[in-house]
Amino acid sequence: MAITAKSFTFLLISSLFLVSCFCAKKAQNTFPIENGLSWTFYDYRCPKVESIIRKQLKKVFKNDIGQAAGLLRLHFHDCFVQGCDGSVLLDGSASGPSEQDAIPNLTLRAKAFEIIDDLRERVHKECGRVVSCADIVAIAARDSVYLSGGPEYDVPLGRRDGLNFATQEATLANLPPPTDNASAILRALADKNLDATDVVALSGGHTIGISHCASFTNRLYPQDPTMEETFAEDLKGICPTENSTSTTVLDIRSPNKFDNKYYVNLVKRQGLFTSDQDLYSYKKTRGIVTSFAEDESLFFEKFVVAMIKNVTAQRTDRQQRRDSCQLFGEKFRQQLSGVRGGRGSGDKVRIEMNT
Ligand code: HEM
Repeated sequence: MAITAKSFTFLLISSLFLVSCFCAKKAQNTFPIENGLSWTFYDYRCPKVESIIRKQLKKVFKNDIGQAAGLLRLHFHDCFVQGCDGSVLLDGSASGPSEQDAIPNLTLRAKAFEIIDDLRERVHKECGRVVSCADIVAIAARDSVYLSGGPEYDVPLGRRDGLNFATQEATLANLPPPTDNASAILRALADKNLDATDVVALSGGHTIGISHCASFTNRLYPQDPTMEETFAEDLKGICPTENSTSTTVLDIRSPNKFDNKYYVNLVKRQGLFTSDQDLYSYKKTRGIVTSFAEDESLFFEKFVVAMIKNVTAQRTDRQQRRDSCQLFGEKFRQQLSGVRGGRGSGDKVRIEMNT
């Protein structure tokens, strides 16, 4: 078959595009990652894990793209409290309320937990219980970013699920409130090895999703002078009192698209939370906000760096891969003593230990 000049040019451009995508993905794989994590962790154990998750999430998001925001936030809340160990998924136990019961987690979407458990079931059906809930959450967060229009990136894998959830105090101490200003947020996140660029880039997660009025009415009553007037009036219509229970979008320009419009909002004084808007008011972070508002690919690049560099932490104590992502810690410990004390049949105890 003869190749016309037009189709040759098309083929050449397509292959150059494919090569450049490939190089971008491979380049990421040179990032330093935490001990125990690997770029190829499931290549033999469960080679289809990422395609199973991607395929199912495409279906979920076709029905409701809002779920992408719920899954991204779930990953962030898992990782910032005792590392990415799936502990946010654990139900409460007799020994106390779970991480889920702490104030910042009360607004995590119930559906996000259901989606993760459904994904776990699909993955475990294909491969057995070799994939951790924490890895499923990390892959789902990456796919949420990508399928909403954001960057594609490889996720280092091999996280283990924790046996315990954090206390309420530890959860609160690790998830800063939206009323914090930029300098407080920078201080809190510096403890996690995140620098100013990482913090501004990660805050760009607020380019998708929604918020309840209670998270920002502190800026309406009384009105925060750094908030643009028409934007403030519109928000007062949605949240007529400080205790209104309605919700609104985090990014007024493109609420469901993962893009750099969040930073454009900040430059126009249309950021929702104090913790967002102050990134533009604060001298140390203002230039970074402006650079991301002007250059979306720079934002994507820094977002990926921050996600890979800093949101992969895993605990180093003994952990396992869970048979249910929600099963609470106490029950795990009981199952564990069954394994170690040789009380019951080891075959019946469906826990895989990382010793
Ligand atoms: C830096 C400190 C952060 C603060 C103070 C913060 C605070 C908040 C608050 C208050 C909400 C709304 C909760 C509600 O009222 O319903 C929210 C939503 C959200 N956050 Fe953050 N956040 C931070 C960082 C992040 C990071 C690092 C990411 C991800 C990379 C992220 C992703 C999201 C997403 C996607 C939503 C929307 C969730 C949904 O629609 O269900 N946030 N955040």
